[in-house]
Amino acid sequence: MKVVLLYVASLDGKLTKWEQTTVHEWTSPEDAAHFQKIRDNSNLIVMGIQTFLDVQPTPTNGTLRIVMTKDADMYAKKTVPGQLEFSKELPEQLIKRLEKEGYKELLLVSGQKLTTAFFQKNLIDEVWITIEPKIFGTGKSLITEEPMDISLRLLSSKQLNENGTLLLHYKVL
Ligand SMILES: NC(=O)c1ccc[n+]([C@@H]2O[C@H](COP(=O)([O-])OP(=O)(O)OC[C@H]3O[C@@H](n4cnc5c(N)ncnc54)[C@H](OP(=O)(O)O)[C@@H]3O)[C@@H](O)[C@H]2O)c1
Repeated sequence: MKVVLLYVASLDGKLTKWEQTTVHEWTSPEDAAHFQKIRDNSNLIVMGIQTFLDVQPTPTNGTLRIVMTKDADMYAKKTVPGQLEFSKELPEQLIKRLEKEGYKELLLVSGQKLTTAFFQKNLIDEVWITIEPKIFGTGKSLITEEPMDISLRLLSSKQLNENGTLLLHYKVL
């Protein structure tokens, strides 16, 4: 399974502005367009519970969204077979199951905790990062604070607008 992580961050590496839960107030229209393009080309998307609650994505035919939460049973009623699932599996268990189901690529739109869990198990193959030219000082970082040593190689870079929003695409080595 190829796992592709997609996220947007401030110049000082924050995934959220201070304690705000949603990112749309500070991200650019160009990042939104990029997100939409990648999302529309994915048939398998994994996210954390807060992202799901913030975005409330509409279940779509042909795309399976999996929301990771230890309270998966509590959300079972919201399940839409083949389109929306809630899972309390560990990342490596989830990937094994999805591989058996025939999936080849997974788009990970995770925050700090899930991203850390996937990186800890070396499950991420590629990273798309949009850097917005903003500095927030506080907010959630990409990874929870613990030692990690991951090397990546830049595949492409692009300036998305006049302010200098940057789109970077990396391969995890
Ligand atoms: N800037 C960006 O690109 C970006 C991307 C994604 C999210 N965010 C922001 O980040 C914040 C947090 O969002 P999120 O909750 O969706 O973050 P997340 O780190 O993607 O998900 C964390 C949640 O996943 C569940 N989980 C299930 N298995 C886990 C495991 N093995 N390890 C860790 N967590 C596991 C837990 O839910 P339970 O607590 O229910 O068990 C946990 O609270 C939000 O404010 C969101 O807007 C920003």
